[in-house]
Amino acid sequence: MVDRPLVLATRNRGKVEEIKSLLSGFDVVIRGLTEFGTIPPIEEDGETFEENAYRKAHLTAKVLGLPALADDSGLVVEALNGMPGVHSARYAGPGATDRDRNLKLLKAMERIENRKALFECVIAIAVPKGPALIFDGVCEGEIALEMRGENGFGYDPVFYYPPLKKTFAEMTPEEKNRVSHRGRAMAQLKADFEKVLVWLEHRLSEEP
Ligand code: IMP
Repeated sequence: MVDRPLVLATRNRGKVEEIKSLLSGFDVVIRGLTEFGTIPPIEEDGETFEENAYRKAHLTAKVLGLPALADDSGLVVEALNGMPGVHSARYAGPGATDRDRNLKLLKAMERIENRKALFECVIAIAVPKGPALIFDGVCEGEIALEMRGENGFGYDPVFYYPPLKKTFAEMTPEEKNRVSHRGRAMAQLKADFEKVLVWLEHRLSEEP
């Protein structure tokens, strides 16, 4: 078998394991960033999830000379003009906790009737020369009036999903995976992965 490597541009162990298991049936060797020692940190200061995911995937591919996959995600609130959006992880400043961010969001949403929000996840797969494939998953819901549930992470306790009448933090991991932005982007990636491998083969044969 030819060794077809794909580097995951993340140091998040949970994400590495999740993607490894998702793509376990395919003819590809998934490699984590930790196998490569130190590579320069990549700023996530783009204006869109796509820009950040592409930048992470492309810079990693360029530095290592191997195809790379990266993702970026966050919460977009309609009444807050799309905030926290690409700032989701640092919405309440450096050193803040998930709870601080949720409390800040609930405060910003006090007395606001339009509670519409969505989670978005963009996955980019890039080759060293630049071109990339993009997968996008969205989950629409509402900002709850208070935190509910103990599961998950991040904004899960304040993100209410009307079809299941639960916040993400009240769902089991399986329930959340079936409907979440990340679950949907990953399902799309898996469904198209044979085509991704063909695309990678063509792009990589064009590399110098
Ligand atoms: P990243 O894609 O891991 O950089 O996620 C950015 C930030 O978006 C996280 O730190 C969370 O605050 C938020 N976020 C992304 N996905 C989720 C989710 O599934 N549940 C709750 N918060 C999320």
